[in-house]
Amino acid sequence: MVKLEWQDAFNTGIDLIDRQHQILVRAINLLSMGLEQGCEKDLMDDIFHTLADYTATHFADEERLFTEASFPEAEAHKRTHEMFLQRLNELKAKFDQGGDTAQEVLVFLVDWLKNHILGTDRKYIPYVLGEGGLRKAV
Ligand SMILES: [Fe+2]
Ligand SMILES: [Fe+2]
Repeated sequence: MVKLEWQDAFNTGIDLIDRQHQILVRAINLLSMGLEQGCEKDLMDDIFHTLADYTATHFADEERLFTEASFPEAEAHKRTHEMFLQRLNELKAKFDQGGDTAQEVLVFLVDWLKNHILGTDRKYIPYVLGEGGLRKAV
C-alpha cells in the first residue's frame, strides 16, 4: 500500500497551498487504502469524486494566486493541471467499467505528487510570495 507522509520539503510557505496539498496527500492515501482493501464501489466512487473535486478547487486557487502574481509560466502550468484532471477522469471511467485500475491510479497519483507538488509547483513560489517572501499571499 502507498502511504505518503507529509514532509517539510513539501511546504511552499504559502499557507493556503500547503493546507490544500496536505489534504490532497490524505486523499491519495485514502484512495490507496480503499483500492487495496477492495472497498465497496460506492465508497470508491466517493473517494474518486472527492479527490477530483478537491483537486479542481486547489488548481483554481493556485492558478488565481500565480496569475495575480504575474508568474510568467502561468499558461504552461495551467495546461499541466488540465492534463491531470483529464487523466484522472480517464482512470475513473476505466474504474467505473470494472477495470483493474488500482496500480495505475496509484502510480499516476504518486508520480504526479512528486513531479508536480515537489517540482512544478515550486516555480511560482517566489512570484506568489514576492520579493523577500513578504507579499501577503492569502
Ligand atoms: Fe498544487
Ligand atoms: Fe500546480
